[in-house]
Amino acid sequence: MNPLRIALLGTGLLGHSIAERLLLGNNPLYVYNRSRSKAEDLVSLGATLCNSPAEAIKAAEGIFLVLTDAKATAEVLALAEEKTSFRGKTFFQVGTISPDETLELDRQITQRGGYFVALPVLGSKNEAKKGTLLLMFGASEELYHKWHDFLSQLGQVFFVADPKKAAALKLALNQLIISSIIGFSLSFSLILKEEIHPELFMSILRKSALYCSTFDKKLPRLLKKDYSSANFTLELLLKDLRLCLEELEKLSIESAPLKTSKTIIEQALKRGYGDKDYSALFEVVFAPHPMNEKSPEIIVEKNPSPSKLTELGVAHWPLWEKDISSFDWHYEEKESCYILEGEAIIYVENKEPLKINKGQLVMFPAGLSCRWEITSKIKKHYRIG
Ligand SMILES: NC(=O)c1ccc[n+]([C@@H]2O[C@H](COP(=O)([O-])OP(=O)(O)OC[C@H]3O[C@@H](n4cnc5c(N)ncnc54)[C@H](OP(=O)(O)O)[C@@H]3O)[C@@H](O)[C@H]2O)c1
Repeated sequence: MNPLRIALLGTGLLGHSIAERLLLGNNPLYVYNRSRSKAEDLVSLGATLCNSPAEAIKAAEGIFLVLTDAKATAEVLALAEEKTSFRGKTFFQVGTISPDETLELDRQITQRGGYFVALPVLGSKNEAKKGTLLLMFGASEELYHKWHDFLSQLGQVFFVADPKKAAALKLALNQLIISSIIGFSLSFSLILKEEIHPELFMSILRKSALYCSTFDKKLPRLLKKDYSSANFTLELLLKDLRLCLEELEKLSIESAPLKTSKTIIEQALKRGYGDKDYSALFEVVFAPHPMNEKSPEIIVEKNPSPSKLTELGVAHWPLWEKDISSFDWHYEEKESCYILEGEAIIYVENKEPLKINKGQLVMFPAGLSCRWEITSKIKKHYRIG
């Protein structure tokens, strides 16, 4: 049998690890990432780096979509749709999106002659690299038989059939990620504040039916307060929580515990942990009102080099413009922008006002609340996330 030609769009934390795993097999792999630099190292492992989503889709018969959310996925596919046909190609939606978003994506891809497979996964970077992900396959039995052996190199494939149910399964499982880390953080905070030795607590817990292996996976991070090199970021956990909340409310399931978790995650984002490992939630549970915690900083680069702008793909970011005006704004997610025209003053509580203007690259951190005063019509390219 000829090897299957595969494309992978989105080499972030998960996509990059899936690509690494796929490159251990014989299937040619075409990768695309908006920020090219995050995919470049895959070339030395055997991948072909594409300049556009269309180029990758054109080359492949199976396409993995491993992008932040439904909006990012739609944007990437929109870049490709006029430049290449989707006919006969199979699209695997790996990123976590809601059941309704899954149905919509299925409709759009099918309408263009492609096959759609909802393929949410449980597991993270390490499981992807080891081939031990749990994959929930939402599409027909025929497609399942065609792709089962190939997908098995990534882990165990569960046949769900209905794409919407595959998406709902993933939300149900991610809800458990949220409640288990918050539950563990509550108990572990109590242990530390009562000055009980953590190892005594863990020894009892490990012997009990309450134990879950995530506790030991996250324990070193909690003890060292090291949430760097995230496996799964808090920003994405909040995205999944919102999807889950929407679903619970639609189904009239009590959502109060999840709403409380949402408040805790939002506090963690305000404290600058958005791009950190999700176990950083422990910091908010352990110390809900930290003393002298610094609010996140706005970073301004006055004269970014043309090569940096090209590498970031600034020219392809969406445009935003606004006339002289003032308004309050809260950044739920990190936002980068490149000012093409105009000037504004940004006011943040307890900080000096900051003037931003033409030619500057500005990074607003997740969790920042500020007031914008546009003093001369602003036009900017921007990127969220
Ligand atoms: N990490 C995990 O353990 C894990 C596990 C299961 C499921 N998931 C799900 O898988 C998806 C990816 O997660 P991740 O952890 O890999 O996230 P990530 O590291 O933040 O990567 C996100 C990817 O999406 C791309 N992207 C975002 N917005 C875009 C846009 N508008 N246009 C083009 N590309 C865009 C990013 O490109 P840039 O590099 O240019 O920003 C990057 O390649 C998410 O839905 C997540 O919930 C993750």
